[in-house]
Amino acid sequence: MTEISDPQWSRLADAARRASANAHCPYSRFCVGAAVLTGDGGIAVGCNVENASYGLTVCAERNAVSRAVADGARSLDAVVVYTPTAEPVTPCGACRQVISEFGREVRIRCICDGPGVLEFGVADLLPGAFAFTPR
Ligand code: THU
Repeated sequence: MTEISDPQWSRLADAARRASANAHCPYSRFCVGAAVLTGDGGIAVGCNVENASYGLTVCAERNAVSRAVADGARSLDAVVVYTPTAEPVTPCGACRQVISEFGREVRIRCICDGPGVLEFGVADLLPGAFAFTPR
């Protein structure tokens, strides 16, 4: 498992907080930010992008993963998700599945406006993730 250093965690936390300011969330007013650390040491950010057709909303974590992949990443080491809450909030099930596509040992930290921080491995949050090897 790749060790994430304290300076890397704090860069990710700052990036996730900053990204939340760009969230498009006029319906929920719940502005989420995420930052991912890629296997090659890069950082990509995402925010939630809501839609008037509510089901088309995409979470901050999945947008950050898509951006990392579009930038050339093929694996992830860590994800930080920031929510504007008093207690940390964990990623939704869809985001857990998408994160697990890019590494079974991805570390996930959940940060918020309070002092609480939660940290998990993606496999703790999504045991038995769907996976298959195409023929
Ligand atoms: N949201 C995220 O961005 N990440 C999550 O893990 C859960 C929920 C967003 C989706 C929606 O825009 C808002 O939070 C309220 O559900």
